[in-house]
Amino acid sequence: MGAVLLDTVEAVRAFIARERRSGSVGFVPTMGALHAGHARLIEHARRECALVVVSIFVNPLQFDRADDLREYPRTLDADRAFCDELRVDCVFAPDVTEVYPVPPQCTVEVARLADHLCGRTRKDHFRAVATIVLKLLQIIQPQRAYFGEKDAQQLAIVRRLVSDFSVPVTVVEVPTAREADGLALSSRNRLLSADDRRLATALYSALREADRQIRIGVTDTDRIKQAALARVSIHPALRLEYLEIVDPDEMQPVATVAGPVRVAAALWVGRVRLIDNLLSIPGQAESE
Ligand code: PAJ
Repeated sequence: MGAVLLDTVEAVRAFIARERRSGSVGFVPTMGALHAGHARLIEHARRECALVVVSIFVNPLQFDRADDLREYPRTLDADRAFCDELRVDCVFAPDVTEVYPVPPQCTVEVARLADHLCGRTRKDHFRAVATIVLKLLQIIQPQRAYFGEKDAQQLAIVRRLVSDFSVPVTVVEVPTAREADGLALSSRNRLLSADDRRLATALYSALREADRQIRIGVTDTDRIKQAALARVSIHPALRLEYLEIVDPDEMQPVATVAGPVRVAAALWVGRVRLIDNLLSIPGQAESE
């Protein structure tokens, strides 16, 4: 039997109440256009939980640009088949009016964790992400919820959300899945033209250079950033939005590297905005 497709809060709650028996529920929140990165999360959940629920909801409130929301890939039929293959029990794919019958009056305010990186230019983004994640956790009430390291700032905020609101769920972090040339898998990659796809490798290449500098003992983050930026060639289609070196828990920029740091960047390739990050540990040999 394939994954059951449900689109109302009432139906998904009834399904979980009926099917979970005494087993644990694993939850993978997504915006669909599923790829091998999402598959990693789902496989992890499948190994650890009796019942696996994947949500597919393109949350309009977390988009800051109308064109980005409009162009975001929506591939529900393919996503459902993908979930069948991975033995997902239930796909929860509500539409916007089911999730927000009325515009919310109560939202989750995120403080310092959202000040830098993607939060700097997208002020409302993480409020919207924290709000929808809390809402989905309330609807599904899983024992375990799976998030990708690919969106490290989102993950740090979700961890903090869960502890600040005492949500009874274990947050599981899953490493980033990449293409052979290092490009992190993303639903937005399918919006890249062939030329832009080639240019997009600059993002991982810049992060790798920063990581290399940190591992060989360079501590001055300005110097590290300069070396990394040299990997992004000057090209009309490329625009680096940020490349920052932050502490991995609080996501605050550091001036001098004195322990593990996260190097994170956002690169525009044509009209597509890509993000990626690496955890760098000074003095540690490269794992690959
Ligand atoms: P979405 O971009 O669909 O991502 C869903 C989950 O998949 C996130 O936890 C993300 O970090 C993870 N993911 C994406 N690409 C990955 C990759 N290459 N390797 C490993 N994991 C990857 O993130 C969102 O949706 C939304 O903000 C959401 C949390 C669903 C709230 O709307």
